[in-house]
Amino acid sequence: MSDSTASHPIWSNRLTYILATTGAAVGLGNIWKFPYIAGENGGGAFVLMYLLCILLLGIPIMVAEVMLGRKGRANPVHAMLTQARSAGVSKGWSLIGIMGVAAGIMILMYYSVVAGWSLEYVFQSATSSYIGKSPTDVAAGFGVLAQDTTRQLIWHSAFISVTAFIVGLGVTRGIGNAVNILMPMLFMLLLLLLWYAYNNGEFMRGLTFMFSADFSKLTGASLLTAMGHAFFTLSLGMGTVMVYGSYMPESQSIPSASVTVAFLDTLIALVAGMAIFPLVFASGLEPGSGPGLLFETLPIAFSDMWGGAFFGTGFFVLVSIAALSSSISLIEPGIAWLEKLGITRIKATVGLALLCWIGGVASIYSADVFSTLDYLTANIMLPLGGLLIALFVGWRLGYTRVRKEITGVSNGLFNIWFVVLRFITPIGVIVVFYESIKGLFGA
Ligand code: PHE
Repeated sequence: MSDSTASHPIWSNRLTYILATTGAAVGLGNIWKFPYIAGENGGGAFVLMYLLCILLLGIPIMVAEVMLGRKGRANPVHAMLTQARSAGVSKGWSLIGIMGVAAGIMILMYYSVVAGWSLEYVFQSATSSYIGKSPTDVAAGFGVLAQDTTRQLIWHSAFISVTAFIVGLGVTRGIGNAVNILMPMLFMLLLLLLWYAYNNGEFMRGLTFMFSADFSKLTGASLLTAMGHAFFTLSLGMGTVMVYGSYMPESQSIPSASVTVAFLDTLIALVAGMAIFPLVFASGLEPGSGPGLLFETLPIAFSDMWGGAFFGTGFFVLVSIAALSSSISLIEPGIAWLEKLGITRIKATVGLALLCWIGGVASIYSADVFSTLDYLTANIMLPLGGLLIALFVGWRLGYTRVRKEITGVSNGLFNIWFVVLRFITPIGVIVVFYESIKGLFGA
């Protein structure tokens, strides 16, 4: 089946689903955000909480969300509508889809700015512009970029345009083909950089920082950050895996595909950490230095290391590719929805891309807009979306309906998943919300 038929598109094969969804999952979250939030929250204990959230909240919700998409064979709003109708429950559940479309667009409004920074650093690395400079000068280079609104605007516009171009080409022809090329490149580059960090960085110190847990550093707020990040990094709770699931071939097993994607995403976050923290320490920087971390540390490391311009270029190409395969998945739920409402794919793409572009401009001019968009989406909207998905599938859809769609697992495993989804996942999300709100009021 292809995009040109009137019916809903389907990925050309199972691997494309895996690559597209892994592409959605692996992004700036893994390479840019994870290292600095782990750094800000003390390292090891935070990493453990995040892994726990992936296991108890992330994977069960991913299975549920993908299932809603494949069963509904539509964008998140209509997929929820049909299923609410067939289960005889309120149409209000389709709000999950609408909130998801909004979250995707809100994320892209700052995501594209960060992707723009990484394009700038591809350029700076390839032209050796920070090579041989002193560490202080190199680190200050990011501050200069953060003030240079014109330059950020150019890269942000370029990134949104490429995203729109790929998505505009369609699901199989645009997104499917893109991920088939981008993802193998991403894997190769990451291995190359791991090797580089192993040889040039303080590798053991990096590992110790990531894996030695000091639980006294954990607060309600850091717990919320860990949970929010688990949702963010797996692209959950906002319709991305739902819409990608709606293009999934019927014969594919949802649980095994989901476990594969979650495993790859986690592996890549950890490997990225193993490539980055050793270089952070070797550069004499602190891992908790905030959103600029990646763009200060890595250039410092590359500036005086053997092959720095080459590996620096490779690294920032890697970051840009990871961002691109995610940005297309951030905008796709909205596009699929508008298409269903009768707007052509091209018009929908241009319209939403423009909206994201405007939001991006606001993020460039105001750090508050930037961080509010990030906080609202990752820490509130995605976990809330995930909670509602767990409640809907666990308590509203009905056991038999769900069992029919979840193939490739024994009854025993299915039952474990269903119990986790009904009880553990919702309680987990609610407890973390509660703990962080409590913290907010100083109780
Ligand atoms: N998972 C992506 C990342 O880690 C971000 C993302 C979130 C993409 C939600 C799609 C949907 O960078």
